[in-house]
Amino acid sequence: MPTLKFAVLAGDYIGPEVMTEALRVLEHVAKSENLTLSYTQADVGGAGIDHHGKALPDSTLKTCEAADAILFGSVGGPKWEKLPPKEQPERAALLPLRKHFTLFANIRPGLLYRELTDASPLKSERIPDGIDIVCIRELTGGLYFGLPKQTTTLPDGDLQAVDTMVYKKSEIERILQVAITTARARKKKLCSVDKANVLETSVLWRKTVVDFMAKHAPDIALSHMYVDNAAMQLARDPNQFDVFVTENMFGDILSDEMAVICGSLGMLSSASLGAGKNSLGLPFGLYEPAGGTAPDIAGMGIANPCAQVLSAALMLRFSFGLDALATRIEAAVKKAVTSGTRTGDIAFGKPSVGTKAMTDAIIAQL
Ligand code: IPM
Ligand code: MG
Repeated sequence: MPTLKFAVLAGDYIGPEVMTEALRVLEHVAKSENLTLSYTQADVGGAGIDHHGKALPDSTLKTCEAADAILFGSVGGPKWEKLPPKEQPERAALLPLRKHFTLFANIRPGLLYRELTDASPLKSERIPDGIDIVCIRELTGGLYFGLPKQTTTLPDGDLQAVDTMVYKKSEIERILQVAITTARARKKKLCSVDKANVLETSVLWRKTVVDFMAKHAPDIALSHMYVDNAAMQLARDPNQFDVFVTENMFGDILSDEMAVICGSLGMLSSASLGAGKNSLGLPFGLYEPAGGTAPDIAGMGIANPCAQVLSAALMLRFSFGLDALATRIEAAVKKAVTSGTRTGDIAFGKPSVGTKAMTDAIIAQL
């Protein structure tokens, strides 16, 4: 019986609520597919600070190191907002995890089912068939990690802060490899987003993309766009993109824009794939919903479990090689969400039927 060994880092507020539901879906499919689930839960984020004095406790890191993948919930919230920025759950847990496991490839599907176009702030005429695009964001380079990164007092008493945007050709090539694989599995269309009219890193980015694609992926229709224009085009006609690839900070911003045009943060999953392989020879990865901890609805039983369930499906696909099973779960979520009375209200992140009943509806479709 194949064993799926993963770490479960549920985190804070609605994190544990939706994680329970994703695990319920995984238990269900494991039974029918004869898979053994072997997972270990560990504290992260605010829970890590409260129980171990650190957003990413050493014991949690060890649990992740011993696993083939990480299923992540969400971290942070008002309880820890007064801590210094460097100690806050988001920054002190997620960023070190990304760096430690070299999770350089962030795949964020931007999916809005045709039945739910009303949930998007875009006019339905612009997206008659919903939205189906993918953002590939470089996740371990650029401004987030470049050095120097510091604040200093100048001789005249003024304060100066610096972040450094830095990219190596090899880092650009490895994220491109992921973008190529993604584009090949879809419409063979890739848009590279940069700011090559201003930034040195973007000049290298664009040259590397042009050369690498010509050599390794002449079958893919490649285009380039400046990031400011990309932000505009996403709001104008999102489906022109299919797959876009970009550096860390641009990807952070564009993926939030993508999330809002897709109507509901409660529906969006993500995968962050590592440079390293797990014990199965597949990419080690961290899988998390895009929506955050939603403190305002925590404990009310109304958080949307779909993004966490879809993130679990991505884990099955990328870190365990179970593509068909992942597709089945994705289809079940779609059917459960777009059927009957749930259409519409679920899209805003709060299924009227509640968190547990929503999961029951997904399981009923499996
Ligand atoms: C994201 C988040 C993180 C980021 C924060 C929480 C550090 O916004 O995953 O997009 O900026 O990468
Ligand atoms: Mg973000």
